[in-house]
Amino acid sequence: MDRNQLLELTNKYGGPLYVYNTDTIKNQYNNITTAFSKVKNVKINYAVKALSNVNILKVFKQLGSGLDTVSIQEVQLGLLAGFDPKDIIYTPNGVSLKEIEDVAKLGVQINIDNLSILELFGQKHPKIPVCIRINPHIMAGGNSKISVGHIDSKFGISIHQVPHIKRVVENTGMHINGIHMHTGSDILDIDTFLMATEILFDVAKNFKNIEFIDFGSGFKVPYKEGDIQTNISDLGKKLSKRFNDFCKEYGKDLTLMFEPGKYLVSQSGYFLAKVNVIKQTTSTVFAGIDSGLNHLIRPMFYNAYHKIENISNPKGRERFYSIVGYICETDTFGSNRRINEIREEDVLCFYNAGAYCFSMASNYNSRYRPAEVMIHDGKDYLIRKRETFEDIIRNQDIVI
Ligand SMILES: Cc1ncc(COP(=O)(O)O)c(C=O)c1O
Repeated sequence: MDRNQLLELTNKYGGPLYVYNTDTIKNQYNNITTAFSKVKNVKINYAVKALSNVNILKVFKQLGSGLDTVSIQEVQLGLLAGFDPKDIIYTPNGVSLKEIEDVAKLGVQINIDNLSILELFGQKHPKIPVCIRINPHIMAGGNSKISVGHIDSKFGISIHQVPHIKRVVENTGMHINGIHMHTGSDILDIDTFLMATEILFDVAKNFKNIEFIDFGSGFKVPYKEGDIQTNISDLGKKLSKRFNDFCKEYGKDLTLMFEPGKYLVSQSGYFLAKVNVIKQTTSTVFAGIDSGLNHLIRPMFYNAYHKIENISNPKGRERFYSIVGYICETDTFGSNRRINEIREEDVLCFYNAGAYCFSMASNYNSRYRPAEVMIHDGKDYLIRKRETFEDIIRNQDIVI
Protein backbone atom coordinates (compact mmCIF):
# COMPACT_ATOMS: atom_id res chain seq x y z
CA MET A 1 0.00 0.00 0.00
CA ASP A 2 1.28 3.46 -0.68
CA ARG A 3 2.27 5.87 2.05
CA ASN A 4 -0.32 8.51 1.17
CA GLN A 5 -3.13 6.01 1.43
CA LEU A 6 -1.87 4.92 4.86
CA LEU A 7 -1.60 8.57 5.97
CA GLU A 8 -5.13 9.27 4.78
CA LEU A 9 -6.39 6.30 6.79
CA THR A 10 -4.62 7.61 9.90
CA ASN A 11 -6.27 11.00 9.37
CA LYS A 12 -9.66 9.36 8.84
CA TYR A 13 -9.63 6.81 11.69
CA GLY A 14 -7.04 8.29 14.07
CA GLY A 15 -4.07 6.46 15.52
CA PRO A 16 -2.75 4.12 16.67
CA LEU A 17 -4.26 2.02 13.94
CA TYR A 18 -3.87 -1.42 12.38
CA VAL A 19 -4.60 -1.66 8.65
CA TYR A 20 -4.90 -4.96 6.71
CA ASN A 21 -4.98 -5.30 2.95
CA THR A 22 -6.88 -8.41 1.93
CA ASP A 23 -5.31 -8.46 -1.58
CA THR A 24 -2.03 -9.52 0.05
CA ILE A 25 -3.82 -12.27 1.97
CA LYS A 26 -5.37 -13.61 -1.25
CA ASN A 27 -2.01 -13.61 -3.05
CA GLN A 28 -0.28 -15.48 -0.25
CA TYR A 29 -3.10 -18.01 -0.03
CA ASN A 30 -2.96 -18.58 -3.79
CA ASN A 31 0.83 -19.05 -3.66
CA ILE A 32 0.34 -22.06 -1.40
CA THR A 33 -2.53 -23.65 -3.30
CA THR A 34 -0.65 -23.19 -6.60
CA ALA A 35 2.51 -24.73 -5.15
CA PHE A 36 0.60 -27.85 -4.09
CA SER A 37 -1.73 -28.09 -7.09
CA LYS A 38 -0.29 -31.51 -8.01
CA VAL A 39 -1.72 -33.06 -4.83
CA LYS A 40 -5.33 -34.24 -5.23
CA ASN A 41 -6.60 -33.22 -1.78
CA VAL A 42 -5.06 -30.14 -0.17
CA LYS A 43 -6.49 -28.21 2.73
CA ILE A 44 -5.12 -24.94 4.12
CA ASN A 45 -6.28 -24.18 7.65
CA TYR A 46 -5.49 -20.57 8.51
CA ALA A 47 -4.01 -20.27 12.04
CA VAL A 48 -6.54 -17.97 13.72
CA LYS A 49 -4.14 -16.94 16.50
CA ALA A 50 -2.14 -14.82 14.03
CA LEU A 51 -4.99 -12.37 13.42
CA SER A 52 -8.44 -13.24 14.65
CA ASN A 53 -10.79 -10.44 13.60
CA VAL A 54 -14.01 -12.10 12.36
CA ASN A 55 -13.88 -10.10 9.12
CA ILE A 56 -10.44 -11.52 8.33
CA LEU A 57 -11.79 -15.00 9.09
CA LYS A 58 -14.62 -14.34 6.63
CA VAL A 59 -12.05 -13.46 3.96
CA PHE A 60 -10.45 -16.87 4.54
CA LYS A 61 -13.86 -18.50 4.28
CA GLN A 62 -14.36 -16.85 0.88
CA LEU A 63 -10.97 -18.17 -0.22
CA GLY A 64 -12.00 -21.74 0.64
CA SER A 65 -9.67 -22.04 3.63
CA GLY A 66 -10.36 -23.96 6.82
CA LEU A 67 -9.20 -22.82 10.26
CA ASP A 68 -6.59 -23.95 12.75
CA THR A 69 -7.59 -23.04 16.31
CA VAL A 70 -6.03 -23.44 19.75
CA SER A 71 -8.85 -22.37 22.08
CA ILE A 72 -12.60 -22.84 22.28
CA GLN A 73 -12.92 -19.08 21.83
CA GLU A 74 -11.08 -19.24 18.50
CA VAL A 75 -13.44 -22.06 17.49
CA GLN A 76 -16.41 -19.86 18.42
CA LEU A 77 -15.01 -17.00 16.34
CA GLY A 78 -14.68 -19.39 13.39
CA LEU A 79 -18.27 -20.54 13.76
CA LEU A 80 -19.39 -16.91 13.97
CA ALA A 81 -17.54 -16.25 10.72
CA GLY A 82 -19.64 -18.99 9.09
CA PHE A 83 -17.18 -21.90 9.01
CA ASP A 84 -18.53 -25.43 8.99
CA PRO A 85 -17.21 -27.16 12.16
CA LYS A 86 -15.75 -29.83 9.85
CA ASP A 87 -13.47 -27.19 8.39
CA ILE A 88 -11.97 -26.34 11.77
CA ILE A 89 -9.15 -28.21 13.48
CA TYR A 90 -8.52 -27.62 17.18
CA THR A 91 -4.94 -28.11 18.40
CA PRO A 92 -4.79 -27.13 22.05
CA ASN A 93 -1.87 -27.51 24.41
CA GLY A 94 -2.28 -27.93 28.14
CA VAL A 95 -6.05 -27.29 28.22
CA SER A 96 -8.56 -29.23 30.30
CA LEU A 97 -10.29 -32.39 29.09
CA LYS A 98 -13.56 -30.50 29.58
CA GLU A 99 -12.60 -27.84 27.02
CA ILE A 100 -11.64 -30.52 24.50
CA GLU A 101 -14.98 -32.28 25.07
CA ASP A 102 -16.88 -29.01 24.64
CA VAL A 103 -15.11 -28.39 21.32
CA ALA A 104 -15.74 -31.98 20.20
CA LYS A 105 -19.47 -31.46 20.88
CA LEU A 106 -19.38 -28.64 18.33
CA GLY A 107 -18.29 -31.12 15.65
CA VAL A 108 -14.76 -29.75 15.23
CA GLN A 109 -11.76 -31.98 14.39
CA ILE A 110 -9.83 -32.64 17.61
CA ASN A 111 -6.03 -32.82 17.61
CA ILE A 112 -4.52 -34.19 20.83
CA ASP A 113 -0.91 -33.61 21.89
CA ASN A 114 -0.76 -35.41 25.22
CA LEU A 115 -0.90 -39.13 26.05
CA SER A 116 -2.87 -38.83 29.26
CA ILE A 117 -5.58 -36.74 27.55
CA LEU A 118 -5.59 -39.14 24.60
CA GLU A 119 -6.25 -42.03 26.95
CA LEU A 120 -9.03 -40.24 28.86
CA PHE A 121 -10.65 -38.94 25.69
CA GLY A 122 -10.43 -42.35 23.98
CA GLN A 123 -12.04 -44.10 26.96
CA LYS A 124 -14.94 -41.66 27.13
CA HIS A 125 -15.47 -40.97 23.42
CA PRO A 126 -14.11 -43.87 21.35
CA LYS A 127 -16.35 -42.94 18.40
CA ILE A 128 -14.99 -39.41 17.93
CA PRO A 129 -12.10 -39.44 15.43
CA VAL A 130 -8.94 -37.82 16.71
CA CYS A 131 -5.77 -36.47 15.11
CA ILE A 132 -2.47 -36.83 16.96
CA ARG A 133 0.12 -34.08 17.26
CA ILE A 134 3.55 -35.64 17.06
CA ASN A 135 6.73 -34.06 18.39
CA PRO A 136 9.29 -34.99 15.70
CA HIS A 137 12.25 -33.82 17.81
CA ILE A 138 13.48 -31.30 15.31
CA MET A 139 15.02 -28.00 16.34
CA ALA A 140 13.51 -25.47 13.95
CA GLY A 141 12.26 -21.90 14.25
CA GLY A 142 13.48 -18.32 14.29
CA ASN A 143 14.05 -18.19 18.07
CA SER A 144 13.57 -20.32 21.18
CA LYS A 145 10.03 -19.07 21.91
CA ILE A 146 8.79 -20.16 18.50
CA SER A 147 10.74 -23.43 18.22
CA VAL A 148 8.21 -25.99 19.35
CA GLY A 149 9.13 -29.35 17.80
CA HIS A 150 12.33 -30.14 19.69
CA ILE A 151 12.92 -32.70 22.42
CA ASP A 152 12.59 -30.22 25.31
CA SER A 153 9.38 -28.71 23.98
CA LYS A 154 6.03 -29.04 25.78
CA PHE A 155 4.24 -29.62 22.46
CA GLY A 156 3.23 -32.90 20.85
CA ILE A 157 3.64 -36.56 21.72
CA SER A 158 7.17 -37.83 21.20
CA ILE A 159 7.87 -40.01 18.17
CA HIS A 160 9.40 -42.42 20.67
CA GLN A 161 5.99 -42.86 22.28
CA VAL A 162 4.25 -44.20 19.18
CA PRO A 163 4.07 -47.72 20.72
CA HIS A 164 2.26 -46.18 23.70
CA ILE A 165 -0.17 -44.33 21.39
CA LYS A 166 -0.88 -47.62 19.62
CA ARG A 167 -1.64 -49.36 22.92
CA VAL A 168 -4.06 -46.57 23.89
CA VAL A 169 -5.77 -46.84 20.49
CA GLU A 170 -6.07 -50.63 20.72
CA ASN A 171 -7.34 -50.57 24.29
CA THR A 172 -9.93 -47.86 23.77
CA GLY A 173 -10.99 -48.73 20.21
CA MET A 174 -10.63 -45.08 19.25
CA HIS A 175 -10.13 -43.95 15.65
CA ILE A 176 -7.04 -41.96 14.67
CA ASN A 177 -7.86 -40.08 11.46
CA GLY A 178 -4.92 -37.68 11.20
CA ILE A 179 -1.26 -37.14 12.06
CA HIS A 180 0.01 -33.64 12.75
CA MET A 181 3.18 -31.75 13.56
CA HIS A 182 4.17 -28.12 13.92
CA THR A 183 7.88 -27.65 14.48
CA GLY A 184 8.15 -23.88 14.78
CA SER A 185 7.79 -20.52 13.09
CA ASP A 186 10.19 -18.67 10.78
CA ILE A 187 11.84 -21.82 9.41
CA LEU A 188 14.60 -20.89 6.98
CA ASP A 189 15.31 -24.12 5.23
CA ILE A 190 12.73 -26.19 3.34
CA ASP A 191 14.83 -29.29 4.00
CA THR A 192 13.60 -29.04 7.60
CA PHE A 193 10.05 -29.65 6.34
CA LEU A 194 11.17 -32.48 4.11
CA MET A 195 13.05 -34.18 6.93
CA ALA A 196 10.07 -33.85 9.29
CA THR A 197 7.80 -35.17 6.54
CA GLU A 198 9.64 -38.49 6.49
CA ILE A 199 9.21 -38.74 10.25
CA LEU A 200 5.47 -38.12 9.97
CA PHE A 201 5.12 -40.72 7.22
CA ASP A 202 6.83 -43.27 9.46
CA VAL A 203 4.34 -42.48 12.22
CA ALA A 204 1.34 -42.53 9.86
CA LYS A 205 2.19 -46.06 8.72
CA ASN A 206 1.32 -47.27 12.21
CA PHE A 207 -2.34 -46.33 11.84
CA LYS A 208 -4.68 -47.93 9.32
CA ASN A 209 -7.42 -45.33 8.98
CA ILE A 210 -5.58 -42.07 8.47
CA GLU A 211 -7.42 -39.52 6.32
CA PHE A 212 -5.04 -36.56 6.48
CA ILE A 213 -1.51 -35.55 7.35
CA ASP A 214 -1.08 -32.04 8.71
CA PHE A 215 2.37 -30.54 8.28
CA GLY A 216 1.66 -27.52 10.51
CA SER A 217 3.42 -24.37 9.46
CA GLY A 218 6.52 -22.27 10.04
CA PHE A 219 6.70 -20.65 6.61
CA LYS A 220 9.00 -17.67 6.81
CA VAL A 221 8.27 -14.20 5.45
CA PRO A 222 10.80 -11.38 4.96
CA TYR A 223 10.84 -8.75 7.72
CA LYS A 224 13.75 -6.65 6.50
CA GLU A 225 15.61 -5.98 3.27
CA GLY A 226 17.70 -8.97 2.29
CA ASP A 227 15.58 -11.39 4.34
CA ILE A 228 14.54 -14.55 2.59
CA GLN A 229 11.13 -16.15 2.61
CA THR A 230 10.23 -19.82 2.43
CA ASN A 231 10.43 -20.92 -1.16
CA ILE A 232 6.89 -22.25 -1.31
CA SER A 233 7.00 -23.31 -4.94
CA ASP A 234 10.18 -25.35 -4.38
CA LEU A 235 8.70 -26.88 -1.24
CA GLY A 236 5.49 -27.57 -3.20
CA LYS A 237 7.36 -29.41 -5.93
CA LYS A 238 9.40 -31.58 -3.57
CA LEU A 239 6.82 -32.27 -0.90
CA SER A 240 3.96 -32.92 -3.37
CA LYS A 241 5.96 -35.63 -5.09
CA ARG A 242 6.88 -37.28 -1.83
CA PHE A 243 3.30 -36.98 -0.54
CA ASN A 244 1.81 -38.51 -3.70
CA ASP A 245 4.30 -41.40 -3.46
CA PHE A 246 3.38 -41.93 0.17
CA CYS A 247 -0.36 -42.01 -0.67
CA LYS A 248 0.37 -44.84 -3.14
CA GLU A 249 2.34 -46.71 -0.47
CA TYR A 250 -0.44 -46.16 2.06
CA GLY A 251 -3.06 -47.20 -0.50
CA LYS A 252 -5.31 -44.14 -0.26
CA ASP A 253 -5.54 -40.47 -1.38
CA LEU A 254 -4.87 -38.71 1.88
CA THR A 255 -5.44 -34.99 2.39
CA LEU A 256 -2.35 -32.83 2.77
CA MET A 257 -2.85 -30.04 5.27
CA PHE A 258 -0.98 -26.92 6.30
CA GLU A 259 -1.92 -24.33 8.92
CA PRO A 260 -0.02 -21.13 8.21
CA GLY A 261 -0.56 -17.92 10.14
CA LYS A 262 2.36 -15.63 9.49
CA TYR A 263 2.78 -16.46 5.81
CA LEU A 264 -0.85 -15.61 5.11
CA VAL A 265 -1.29 -12.37 7.05
CA SER A 266 2.02 -10.87 8.18
CA GLN A 267 2.68 -8.72 5.12
CA SER A 268 -0.95 -7.66 4.80
CA GLY A 269 -0.70 -5.55 7.95
CA TYR A 270 0.53 -2.04 8.79
CA PHE A 271 0.66 -0.47 12.22
CA LEU A 272 0.44 3.32 12.27
CA ALA A 273 1.27 5.48 15.28
CA LYS A 274 1.94 9.17 15.85
CA VAL A 275 5.14 10.45 17.43
CA ASN A 276 4.45 12.12 20.77
CA VAL A 277 7.95 13.23 21.73
CA ILE A 278 11.49 13.48 20.45
CA LYS A 279 14.04 13.17 23.23
CA GLN A 280 17.72 13.71 22.65
CA THR A 281 19.92 12.21 25.36
CA THR A 282 23.69 12.17 25.59
CA SER A 283 23.78 8.91 23.63
CA THR A 284 20.59 8.53 21.62
CA VAL A 285 17.73 10.28 19.90
CA PHE A 286 14.49 8.68 21.02
CA ALA A 287 11.23 9.00 19.11
CA GLY A 288 8.49 8.19 21.62
CA ILE A 289 5.27 7.10 19.95
CA ASP A 290 1.66 7.06 21.02
CA SER A 291 1.82 3.30 21.61
CA GLY A 292 3.87 0.67 23.36
CA LEU A 293 4.30 -3.02 24.04
CA ASN A 294 0.58 -3.09 24.82
CA HIS A 295 -0.10 -2.73 21.08
CA LEU A 296 2.82 -4.50 19.46
CA ILE A 297 4.84 -6.74 21.73
CA ARG A 298 6.79 -8.83 19.22
CA PRO A 299 10.02 -6.77 19.35
CA MET A 300 10.10 -6.94 23.18
CA PHE A 301 8.78 -10.50 23.45
CA TYR A 302 11.14 -12.20 21.03
CA ASN A 303 13.33 -9.56 19.42
CA ALA A 304 11.21 -9.49 16.29
CA TYR A 305 12.21 -6.94 13.67
CA HIS A 306 9.61 -4.64 12.14
CA LYS A 307 10.69 -2.21 9.45
CA ILE A 308 9.71 1.33 10.53
CA GLU A 309 9.22 4.29 8.17
CA ASN A 310 8.30 7.91 8.72
CA ILE A 311 5.46 8.17 6.23
CA SER A 312 4.72 11.82 6.96
CA ASN A 313 8.22 13.05 6.12
CA PRO A 314 9.45 10.58 3.50
CA LYS A 315 11.92 13.05 1.99
CA GLY A 316 13.39 14.24 5.31
CA ARG A 317 17.11 13.80 5.92
CA GLU A 318 17.89 10.36 7.31
CA ARG A 319 19.05 10.20 10.93
CA PHE A 320 19.43 7.48 13.54
CA TYR A 321 16.66 6.94 16.07
CA SER A 322 15.52 4.56 18.75
CA ILE A 323 11.77 4.13 18.49
CA VAL A 324 10.19 3.62 21.90
CA GLY A 325 6.75 3.35 23.48
CA TYR A 326 5.05 5.04 26.43
CA ILE A 327 4.89 1.99 28.72
CA CYS A 328 6.48 1.99 32.17
CA GLU A 329 8.93 -0.75 31.22
CA THR A 330 11.52 -0.38 28.49
CA ASP A 331 9.56 -0.96 25.29
CA THR A 332 11.89 -0.40 22.38
CA PHE A 333 10.45 -1.12 18.94
CA GLY A 334 13.77 -0.63 17.19
CA SER A 335 17.22 0.76 18.07
CA ASN A 336 19.56 2.73 15.85
CA ARG A 337 17.15 2.79 12.97
CA ARG A 338 18.00 5.03 10.03
CA ILE A 339 14.75 6.88 9.37
CA ASN A 340 13.79 10.10 7.54
CA GLU A 341 13.88 12.96 10.04
CA ILE A 342 11.21 12.42 12.68
CA ARG A 343 9.31 15.38 14.10
CA GLU A 344 6.71 15.39 16.86
CA GLU A 345 3.26 14.53 15.35
CA ASP A 346 4.79 12.58 12.45
CA VAL A 347 3.20 9.22 11.63
CA LEU A 348 5.39 6.12 11.72
CA CYS A 349 4.46 2.98 9.85
CA PHE A 350 5.47 -0.48 11.10
CA TYR A 351 5.48 -3.14 8.40
CA ASN A 352 4.62 -6.85 8.72
CA ALA A 353 2.00 -5.93 11.29
CA GLY A 354 -0.59 -8.54 10.30
CA ALA A 355 0.53 -11.58 12.28
CA TYR A 356 0.81 -11.78 16.07
CA CYS A 357 0.46 -8.02 16.48
CA PHE A 358 -3.12 -7.00 17.28
CA SER A 359 -3.83 -10.55 18.45
CA MET A 360 -1.19 -10.15 21.18
CA ALA A 361 -2.32 -6.63 22.16
CA SER A 362 -3.43 -5.91 25.72
CA ASN A 363 -4.78 -3.17 27.97
CA TYR A 364 -1.55 -2.92 29.96
CA ASN A 365 -1.22 0.46 31.71
CA SER A 366 -5.02 0.65 31.26
CA ARG A 367 -4.58 1.88 27.71
CA TYR A 368 -7.09 1.28 24.93
CA ARG A 369 -6.29 -1.25 22.24
CA PRO A 370 -6.06 0.24 18.74
CA ALA A 371 -8.72 0.30 16.03
CA GLU A 372 -8.47 -2.05 13.03
CA VAL A 373 -9.25 -1.22 9.41
CA MET A 374 -9.54 -3.68 6.53
CA ILE A 375 -8.99 -2.75 2.89
CA HIS A 376 -11.17 -5.14 0.93
CA ASP A 377 -11.90 -4.93 -2.80
CA GLY A 378 -10.43 -1.42 -2.80
CA LYS A 379 -12.64 -0.07 0.03
CA ASP A 380 -11.68 0.67 3.63
CA TYR A 381 -13.81 -0.65 6.50
CA LEU A 382 -13.48 -0.06 10.23
CA ILE A 383 -13.50 -3.64 11.55
CA ARG A 384 -12.77 -2.89 15.19
CA LYS A 385 -13.58 0.31 17.03
CA ARG A 386 -10.99 1.97 19.18
CA GLU A 387 -11.68 1.08 22.81
CA THR A 388 -13.06 3.52 25.35
CA PHE A 389 -12.91 3.83 29.13
CA GLU A 390 -16.09 1.71 29.25
CA ASP A 391 -14.08 -1.23 27.84
CA ILE A 392 -11.48 -0.84 30.55
CA ILE A 393 -14.00 -1.05 33.41
CA ARG A 394 -16.64 -3.31 31.80
CA ASN A 395 -15.90 -6.36 33.95
CA GLN A 396 -14.82 -4.61 37.09
CA ASP A 397 -17.24 -4.71 40.01
CA ILE A 398 -16.72 -1.79 42.31
CA VAL A 399 -17.41 -3.38 45.70
CA ILE A 400 -16.20 -0.92 48.29
C1 LIG B 1 -0.08 -25.47 16.17
C2 LIG B 1 0.30 -24.29 15.34
N1 LIG B 1 -0.03 -24.28 14.05
C3 LIG B 1 0.25 -23.22 13.25
C4 LIG B 1 0.89 -22.11 13.74
C5 LIG B 1 1.16 -20.97 12.81
O1 LIG B 1 2.52 -20.77 12.61
P1 LIG B 1 3.04 -19.65 11.65
O2 LIG B 1 2.44 -18.36 12.07
O3 LIG B 1 4.51 -19.65 11.78
O4 LIG B 1 2.60 -19.97 10.28
C6 LIG B 1 1.29 -22.08 15.08
C7 LIG B 1 2.01 -20.92 15.62
O5 LIG B 1 2.37 -20.79 16.73
C8 LIG B 1 0.97 -23.20 15.91
O6 LIG B 1 1.29 -23.20 17.21
